[in-house]
Amino acid sequence: MKKKIAVLPGDGIGPEIIAEAVKTLDKIARSYNHSFDYIYVDIGGCSIDKYGVPITDEGMNICKNSDSVLLGAVGGPKWDNVAPQIRPEKALLAVRKELSLFANLRPTKLFLQLADASPLKTEIVGNGIDLVIVRELTGGVYFGERRTEEINGELVATDIMPYSESEIERIGRVAFETAMKRGRKLASVDKANVLDTSRLWRKIMHRLSEEYPDVSYSDILVDNTAMQLIKNPTQFDVLVTENMFGDILSDEASMLTGSIGMMPSASLSSGTLGMYEPIHGSAPDIAGKNAANPIGTILSAAMMLRYSFDMPGEADAVEQAVNKALDDGYRTGDIMQEGKTLVSCTEMGDVIANNIL
Ligand code: IPM
Ligand code: MG
Repeated sequence: MKKKIAVLPGDGIGPEIIAEAVKTLDKIARSYNHSFDYIYVDIGGCSIDKYGVPITDEGMNICKNSDSVLLGAVGGPKWDNVAPQIRPEKALLAVRKELSLFANLRPTKLFLQLADASPLKTEIVGNGIDLVIVRELTGGVYFGERRTEEINGELVATDIMPYSESEIERIGRVAFETAMKRGRKLASVDKANVLDTSRLWRKIMHRLSEEYPDVSYSDILVDNTAMQLIKNPTQFDVLVTENMFGDILSDEASMLTGSIGMMPSASLSSGTLGMYEPIHGSAPDIAGKNAANPIGTILSAAMMLRYSFDMPGEADAVEQAVNKALDDGYRTGDIMQEGKTLVSCTEMGDVIANNIL
C-alpha cells in the first residue's frame, strides 16, 4: 500500500523522537512491501521563528490532504511569552479542530519489564495496568469562548465549557466501541454533582449504554477517578471523559507506567485520517542530547498503522519489537534500572527497527 504521511517534528526533542518513528516505519515499509511518503511540516515554535505563526495555511493543507499525521511535540521556554494567539500549542489545537480529530485514545499500559519503574507498589500494579482513556478533543473549555475584561476596576477572566448532545454522543460511541474490542468495561468520568455539561454528558452516556448491553457501564466523578487511578488502577478498562478532565487524568495515568515517555496517542476523526503523537511534551531540558525515549512516538506510529492504515499485523510487529527491546534490557535514561543497558534515543530506535524482521 502507498500512504502519504504528514510529519510534524515540532520543537525540543520532537525531531529526535520523530526520526526514530520514521526509521521504524521505513523498516515496516521494507518488510511488508508498503511505500510511505513523508511530507515534513513545521509546527510550533520552529514555525513561529520562520513564519511568525505556529502553523502556516499551507502546512495545515498538507495535513488535511495526507493519509495521516505524525507529530512530535511543540513548545518550549523560548516561546513562553509570545502572544496567546500564536502560542505553539495553538497550532496543535488548530490541527485537532481543522481535521475534526474529536476522539483521542490514550492507552496506558504498564510493560511488566518496567514494573519497578512505576511509583506504585507491585501489589497495586498487580499483573500490569492496561487501560485506555478516551478523551473528547475538539470541544469543551479548550474551544469555548474566552475573554479577559475589566469589571469594577479589576480584571475578570472567563473560559466557557460548552458541550452539545451530538458532540457527547459521537465520543461516547467511540468509547463503547473501544470497550467492545477490549474488556467490555466502560467508566464515564464527569463532575455531574456540579456541572451542567456533565449532567448532559451522563444523560447521553446512559442513553448509549442501552445500545451496548454487553458493556458493563458505570459513572464516576472526576475527583474520585483521580484517587482510584492511584488506589486501584487495575479496576479500569476504558475511561471516557471530556477534553480537560482527559488532559489531566491522562498525565496522571501515564505516570503509573513509570515514564510518560512510553505513552502513545491517537487522535481520530470519523474517517480514517488521524493524528498520532506521544503524550509527552518537547522536554527542552534534554533536547539535542540524543537522550529522549522514542518509544511513545514509535508506539504512536504503531497506532497509525492500526487505525489509519488498517494494518493490524504491521502494528503488532512494531509493538512486539518494542517489547523485545525491553525484554533484551535496553533502556533510555527515563526508564533506566540497575543491570540494564543504557541506550541513546537513536540506539533505541535502531534496536527496535532491527527487531522487525
Ligand atoms: C496534551 C497537551 C496539550 C493539551 C497542550 C500542549 C495544549 O497537554 O496533548 O495533552 O492540553 O491538549
Ligand atoms: Mg496534556
